[in-house]
Formats: sequence, C-alpha cells, structure tokens
Amino acid sequence: MGLALITGASSGIGAEFARQLAARGYDLALSARRGDRLAALGEELAGRHGVKYETVVADLSAEQGIAAVEARLQQGDVDLLVNNAGFGIGKKFAHAELAGQQAMVNVHMVAPMRLMRAALPAMIERRRGGVINVASLAAFLTLPGNANYCATKAYLMRFSRAVDAEVRRKGVTVQALCPGFVVTEFHNEQERVRMDRRGPTFMWMPAAYVVGQSLAAHDRGKSLVVPGFGYKLVYWLAKTGLPDALIPLVMR
Ligand SMILES: NC(=O)c1ccc[n+]([C@@H]2O[C@H](COP(=O)([O-])OP(=O)(O)OC[C@H]3O[C@@H](n4cnc5c(N)ncnc54)[C@H](OP(=O)(O)O)[C@@H]3O)[C@@H](O)[C@H]2O)c1
Repeated sequence: MGLALITGASSGIGAEFARQLAARGYDLALSARRGDRLAALGEELAGRHGVKYETVVADLSAEQGIAAVEARLQQGDVDLLVNNAGFGIGKKFAHAELAGQQAMVNVHMVAPMRLMRAALPAMIERRRGGVINVASLAAFLTLPGNANYCATKAYLMRFSRAVDAEVRRKGVTVQALCPGFVVTEFHNEQERVRMDRRGPTFMWMPAAYVVGQSLAAHDRGKSLVVPGFGYKLVYWLAKTGLPDALIPLVMR
C-alpha cells in the first residue's frame, strides 16, 4: 500500500489511524513526543499485520521538532500524511498563558502547513498520494473559552480545502476531517461525565468510527468529512450563522 506518516500517533485518533492503516497494509512512520508509546504501538502492529514501522520523536510546538518530521517527509517516500497532533486548552484568551497559545498555533497551523509543503511535491510527481488533516467541528463554531482552538482549526480546515483544489487534478487529495467529540485522551473521564450530563448522548464517538469514516471518505476522494449524523446537523446549523448569533445571549 505504501508508507503513512501519522503525527500524534501516541494516543487517541492518531493511534487508531495507525491501527487501521496497518490493517490495510501500510508501513508506518509514527510521530509524537512520547517515543515509548510509539515504539510499543509499532511493535504491536508490525507483529499483527507484518508491516514495517519507524518512529520520529518530535515536539511539533518547537522548530526543531517540526524540522525533524519535515526532513523525514523530504525523503519523498510517504504516500499518506496524517496531520493529527493537537490539543485543547480551554481558557479565556485574555488571561491564558501565551506560551500555550503560541504552541497551539505551531501544532495546529505551522506544523501541518510545513509538513504538507514537504510531502506534496513527491506525491504530485508520482501522481498518487494524500493528506488527511484532523481539524475539528470547532472549525465551524465560535466557542468562548476556546478562541484559539476554533481559529487554528478553522485555518486547518480552510487551508486543506484550498490546497485540495490545487492538487486534486494531479492525483493527490487533501481531506479536512472535522469530528465532534471523540473518546480519546483529549478529554479526561471527569470532563466526559460532566459534558454527558449537559448534552445529548450522540455526542461521544469512538475513535475507530471516526477514523473508519475518514479512510472510507479518503478512498472516495472526499475533501471534507464530518462524521456522525448528529454532527452533520450541527455543521449545517453552524453554516446558517445561528449559533454565532446566539453567543452574546449565552455569555450573558
Ligand atoms: N477528541 C476529540 O473530541 C476531538 C474532536 C475534534 C478534533 N480532535 C482533534 O483530534 C486530534 C487528535 O486528538 P485526540 O482526540 O486523539 O487526543 P489525544 O488522545 O490527546 O492525542 C493527541 C495526540 O497529539 C499529540 N501531540 C499533542 N501535542 C503535541 C506536540 N506538541 N507535538 C507533537 N505531538 C503532540 C499527542 O502525542 P504526545 O503527547 O506523545 O506528543 C497525542 O498523540 C487533535 O488534533 C484534536 O484537536 C479531537
């Protein structure tokens, strides 16, 4: 099948991409900061599916980390790049620690942009390959307490779609994956219980479902994926502008 490089492969959605891509026969280049987890996952998947794996331990909030993954991609042999690394902070911006906000810009915007720039030329030359960028449903929403998260994910979604339009005729596709809530390490158990009390039960999707939807859509060359019927409704509602109009009321 080729080689897939996945960022944020040490847990959650990224680890699930590794599992499903290995089951499809992809060799893996697994990246994140926690190298021990990457190696354990790589060993497990190599044993189960007979694929090869390598790890690229890198902090994508820092120049050195971005450059390390960029250098791996510049070897020109990656067929599928999954820009998945990401995190939330959940604090009102005016008093949030600036370092964390800057790190979010680097991980959600600078790193995917640079990694795509490193990966795409070889894919275009081969007229084969793809990128999956894990954005979020937050890309379409205005969520107080998550200003930078929404904004950086909106960038990633819009950037993906525009680059997709540029490269599609050259045999390469770029997908923006925009999930709602997924059960991963992103939200801890306490947060999930608290949010469950407030929201409908369709809210929590298993990572396996989200990744399955993404890869099925990748097979069909779709450039925007919002998994789950309930979240598709939220997406369409967001496009009307109504949720944004209600924010001043909610904040009062
Ligand atoms: N869970 C949700 O409800 C949800 C919904 C919509 C979108 N998303 C998006 O899905 C993506 C994956 O998140 P998840 O839900 O799977 O959460 P997760 O289980 O916390 O996984 C996040 C991954 O990102 C990596 N990461 C975080 N900061 C990094 C950094 N500075 N450098 C390199 N890697 C970093 C982590 O690896 P290390 O800590 O080992 O570096 C980890 O592998 C994120 O982009 C997130 O925004 C999640």
